[in-house]
Amino acid sequence: MEAKARARANIALVKYWGKADSRLKIPAVGSISITLDKLWTETTVRFDSGLDTDTLELDGVPRPDRLTRVSATLDLLRELAGTSARARVVSRNNFPTGAGLASSASGFAALVGAGAAALGLTLSPTELSRLARRGSGSAARSIFGGFVEMHAGKAPDGSDSFAEPILAASEWPLEVVVAIAARGEKDVGSGEGMARSETSSPYYPAWVASHPDDLAAARKAIAARDFDALADVAERSCLKMHAAAMAASPPLLYWKGVTVEALHAVRALRREGVPVFFTIDAGPQLKAVCLPEARERVAAELGAVPGVLDVLTTGLGPGLEVETGGR
Ligand code: PMV
Repeated sequence: MEAKARARANIALVKYWGKADSRLKIPAVGSISITLDKLWTETTVRFDSGLDTDTLELDGVPRPDRLTRVSATLDLLRELAGTSARARVVSRNNFPTGAGLASSASGFAALVGAGAAALGLTLSPTELSRLARRGSGSAARSIFGGFVEMHAGKAPDGSDSFAEPILAASEWPLEVVVAIAARGEKDVGSGEGMARSETSSPYYPAWVASHPDDLAAARKAIAARDFDALADVAERSCLKMHAAAMAASPPLLYWKGVTVEALHAVRALRREGVPVFFTIDAGPQLKAVCLPEARERVAAELGAVPGVLDVLTTGLGPGLEVETGGR
């Protein structure tokens, strides 16, 4: 009744922003991401029929405030296993939680992996991806390593809304440099930010309508290992997502001043011929994606941007890893 799993964060190069169904977390648009090797969540789930409620400990601290989504995700697993046993969930991130570093993606992927194993459920990666989606849309992608595509799907029950791997990390070993622009949890989470954009941003319909072209361009760039083409579409998708969010009411602005400075630093490097591009999620951190030979230079330049608190570097990593048997 106990298992442990590790899942890694991922960052989208073509973003997911907006839902077609908020209860089932069916995305309104597909997305393409890379899984990051060195940013992970490790979660142990122990089901115990003696417990009255689920409990969650995150980074050593009890977090009842975050239990609702965790319990709802565990309910899906309990239903599949035909049990009502509550669980003790102990989770740890090796990077800042809730600050736009995709902790919900790695967190829910690890939760589903550990929870399913603890209940003795044998689920395919596709099934795990669909279940992880119910915790957090982007978590569906963290089940897989390397380059991953999430399908928005068309089925009203979400059965065709899952991710799948499109290229192994070893086939195109890009590097990612994360510039930490602020610590601490963000004010408006991605769920709330999406809902606000969907209902009030005049740019939201244009974001959705122009999305298929971006997905097609990214797929083509990845298949051809065309860095410049991937850079163009990734930066476009990122700025478009933020533009839609900024036009919401009340407006959303996830960036700090230092985020913009870091963005300009990446652009300046690219103008010099350094193979690097930026992306930013629902938080202030800037992620620079580059070819391996550019990593040191990119890390040094971003580290020198006034206000950047820290710089993390990582390659691309594998998908969900589950350890059964527990301790
Ligand atoms: O999985 P969520 O609900 O936290 O949404 C993630 C949204 C973005 O990170 C901004 C974009 C993405 O595709 O990961």
